[in-house]
Amino acid sequence: MNIFLIGFMGAGKSTIAKQFAKTHGKEVVEMDERIAKSNGMSISEIFETRGEAYFREEETKLLNDLSSKKDVIVSCGGGVAMRKENVDIMKQSGTIVLLSAEPKTILKRVENEHDRPLLENNKTIEHIQELMEARKPFYESAADLVVVTDGKSASTICEEIFKKIQE
Ligand code: S3P
Repeated sequence: MNIFLIGFMGAGKSTIAKQFAKTHGKEVVEMDERIAKSNGMSISEIFETRGEAYFREEETKLLNDLSSKKDVIVSCGGGVAMRKENVDIMKQSGTIVLLSAEPKTILKRVENEHDRPLLENNKTIEHIQELMEARKPFYESAADLVVVTDGKSASTICEEIFKKIQE
């Protein structure tokens, strides 16, 4: 069964996907990395030269490709759950796990990184809070299960996901 990790930028999707894949024998797919690679440029460059709409189409195309897989854990881009079509594809081929985190945790995690065009010139609690509030209903309605990540180690989060999936 596939697992799709969704949630806000900096919620820990990439870290958890890698760790979970290692400890539970799954293949990991990092969506941003795949899209960057197939386009031969970084996510920021894709936004800049091809636009966000193009990037969103790339996400849907990749999800469609992944839906034929059987045992992968996918670290989704933070905007993936905003599109109903994407949620439908994920629901048909696996379990959707929402990783949540407080805005201050997010800010700390993204502060020193520079490949997130939607945050790059506005890394403030207010901006994160505003974007998160707008997205929350989409994340929550897409999720089969939710795991809070604030203050927890990667291995604790992975075990929580594993247990909740078994239930
Ligand atoms: C985005 C999140 C990013 C990346 C792109 C857009 C978003 O992925 O896909 O910058 O809309 O939330 P991460 O959530 O892995 O940072």
